[in-house]
Amino acid sequence: MVTKVKSADLSGIYAYPVEVEVDLSGGLPAFNIVGLPDASVRESRDRIRSAIKNSRFDFPKSRITVNLAPADLKKESSRLDIAIALGIVLEQGNIKLNFPLDNCLFIGELSLDGKIRGVTGVLSTALFCKEKGLKLFVPEVNFCEAVSVKGVEIYPYTSLLDLISILTGEKEDNELPECSESLGEENYQVLLEDIKGHVQAKRALIIACAGGHNMLMYGPPGSGKTMLAKAIPSILPDMTNKEQIETTMIYSAGGRLKEKGLIKIRPFRSPHHTISHVGLVGGGSKLLPGEVSYAHNGVLFLDEFPEFSRKTLEVLRQPMEDGVITITRATGSVQFPAKFMLVAAMNPCPCGYYGSKEKECVCTPTKILNYRSKVSGPILDRIDLIVNVPQIPIEKMREVKVEGLTSKEAKEIVSKAMDIQFQRNKCLNAYLDAKTLKKVCKLEKDAEDMLIFAANKNSFSSRTYTRVLKIARTIADMEESENIKLHHIAEALQYKLSDFFSENISYD
Ligand SMILES: Nc1ncnc2c1ncn2[C@@H]1O[C@H](COP(=O)(O)OP(=O)(O)OP(=O)(O)O)[C@@H](O)[C@H]1O
Ligand SMILES: [Mg+2]
Repeated sequence: MVTKVKSADLSGIYAYPVEVEVDLSGGLPAFNIVGLPDASVRESRDRIRSAIKNSRFDFPKSRITVNLAPADLKKESSRLDIAIALGIVLEQGNIKLNFPLDNCLFIGELSLDGKIRGVTGVLSTALFCKEKGLKLFVPEVNFCEAVSVKGVEIYPYTSLLDLISILTGEKEDNELPECSESLGEENYQVLLEDIKGHVQAKRALIIACAGGHNMLMYGPPGSGKTMLAKAIPSILPDMTNKEQIETTMIYSAGGRLKEKGLIKIRPFRSPHHTISHVGLVGGGSKLLPGEVSYAHNGVLFLDEFPEFSRKTLEVLRQPMEDGVITITRATGSVQFPAKFMLVAAMNPCPCGYYGSKEKECVCTPTKILNYRSKVSGPILDRIDLIVNVPQIPIEKMREVKVEGLTSKEAKEIVSKAMDIQFQRNKCLNAYLDAKTLKKVCKLEKDAEDMLIFAANKNSFSSRTYTRVLKIARTIADMEESENIKLHHIAEALQYKLSDFFSENISYD
C-alpha cells in the first residue's frame, strides 16, 4: 500500500499542490526522495529521520521511497517536511486516524526534536486551500497569517506528535492562538503635517499620488526629500482587501512578513543605490521577489538617483509599464506583481548645493552636467513631475504652525480624484494612452491658447506636451472639473518648465 499526503510548494508567490507518496518495501534500509527535489528537500531526510525518532515513533527499517508529484516541477522548500514525515509514520500502519486525509493539506518544516518551524508562503497556501475546499494544517507561528483568509478551516500544530494527536482525535480542544489585527493609520512613518514649509512640493506630491504619476525631487542635502517621499503612503487611499492580500503574499513568499496578519499600510521601499540587479527585480537561486515587488501597491523610493547604475535602472522599464516582473530561468519563468509609484530624489549637483542660497556650490558646470546625465533617459521619460525641494529657512522650521493640507485631507482629495479617473478612463491618468488622453482632455479656449503658446515658446517635444496635459487632467480631477481650465494648465506648466534636466548651468 502507498500512503498519500497533500502538501503545497511555491512557484513565485503562488502555491501549487504537491502530493507526497510514501511506500515502504523490503530490502536494505534506504530513504530515497524522487520527483525533482532540490538540495534543501533532499537534506530534509536527516531532519525527518531524527524528528520521527525523537517524537517516540518508529523509523522504518526497510526501504522508504518518497515521490513528490507532479514530478516535473522542481520542489525547493522545506515546507514539505511534515507531509513526508506524516506519510512515513502512517505508512507503518500502527495509527488509526479519525480525520480523512484526502481533504487535508499539511505544511511545516521539522526540527530535529520533532518540533515544527514556521514556513513562508502560508497565505498563498491558504488561498489555494480555499479554492479547493481543503482543511489546512499550519505551524502554530503561521496561524494568524493563514486565518486572514476567510472561509478555510485552519488547524495550528506545534510538533509532529501534536499533529498526530489532533489527527487521531486524542487532542480535542485545540487552543487557537490569538491574532491581533495589525495597526493601520498609527503606523505611518511620516504625515504631511509633520513637514514644515515645502508647500509647493507637498502640492506636487498630492498631484502625483492622485494621478499615479512618477515623480523626481531635487534639492540640497537635508532639505526634506526623503521625508516628503515617506509621507506618500499616508496620502494614498487605504489598500483594498485584494491589495492587502497581494502585498502580504509577496512578503510572505519572500520570508519578510513581520505582521501577524495582513499588511494594511502601503509599502515604502527605499533600496540603497548599490543594490544589485537581482535585489531590485528579484530572482536568484531561490527565485525570491525583489524590491520592485516588495513595493507593490506602494512606493519605490530611489534616493541618490544618479548613483544607481544604468543597467540596474533599465530593468525597471518592464514593471513600470506592465505592473509585473517576469523572471526567466532554465526551469521556466515566474511572474511577480510589481505595480508601484516611483519617487526619485537627487541633489542638483555632486556637492549638493548648486542654486542654494545657504552654501556655495563647488562643482564645475561639466561636473554638474555629467552628474545629471547619469540619469537614464528611458526612465526619465516615465517621470511626469519634477519638483524642486529647497532648504527651509530656520525661522520657518521653528514655526509651530504647519502650512498646507494634512494627510487625512489630502487622502480624501486623492481618493475622490482616483474614483473619477477609474470611472472615466478605467485607469489612472498617468497610464492614459495618446488616443484616450485626447478624448478625455477637453480644454477651455484660454487654457488651450496658453498651452500652445508655452509649447511654442519652449519648443516642447510631443512627450513634454503629453505630460503637461496628463498633469493638468489630474489637477482638474482633484477639483472635480470636467473641463481643463486655464489655472490647471498654468499649474501643470510649472512642474514642467522647471525641468532641470534641460537647464543651462550658470553661476550668475
Ligand atoms: N521641512 C521639514 N520639516 C520638518 N523636518 C525636516 C524638514 N526638512 C528636513 N527635516 C528634518 O531633517 C532631516 C533630514 O531630512 P531628509 O532626510 O528628508 O533630507 P534629504 O533631503 O532626504 O537629504 P539628503 O539629500 O541628504 O538625502 C529629517 O529627518 C527631518 O528631521
Ligand atoms: Mg534623503
